[in-house]
Amino acid sequence: MGNITLTMVKPDAFSKNYTGKIIDMFLQAGFKIKAMKKMHLTKQQAQQFYLVHKDRPFYDELTDFMSSGPIVAAILEKENAVADFRKLIGATNPAEAEEGTIRKLYAESIQNNAVHGSDSDENARIEAGFFFSELERI
Ligand code: CMP
Repeated sequence: MGNITLTMVKPDAFSKNYTGKIIDMFLQAGFKIKAMKKMHLTKQQAQQFYLVHKDRPFYDELTDFMSSGPIVAAILEKENAVADFRKLIGATNPAEAEEGTIRKLYAESIQNNAVHGSDSDENARIEAGFFFSELERI
């Protein structure tokens, strides 16, 4: 099992000032912050990040949303990071997320779902490389 995952606090949660509460939930769940930055993605950068979804009907709206305001991206470290983090954030659709999960508490909709979490160790490495250089993740 890999020990990193890549997360973003998405524009919906950032604009409602939930960033601090959400990051505290990462820490309380035992994740360590290996790298972190606030940024405002361009439409093109959002399209690049979500390229695997380019044929989905929601791709254009999703990338508009992800470039609509600031985000906080982070590499989080923990044993079994990908699976444990997905448990912490809950189902993609907040209506299906378990009580106490980040998306149950803070997400608005299946698209505006407060946080992203990598879905595999391989994608965690790719997504971490998208946001952070080697120097930023020492
Ligand atoms: P995320 O975990 O970042 O990965 C892909 C994103 O696409 C997902 O969270 C949602 O923001 C969005 N998404 C997934 N399914 C749908 C859907 N059916 N309609 C709109 N957006 C979706």
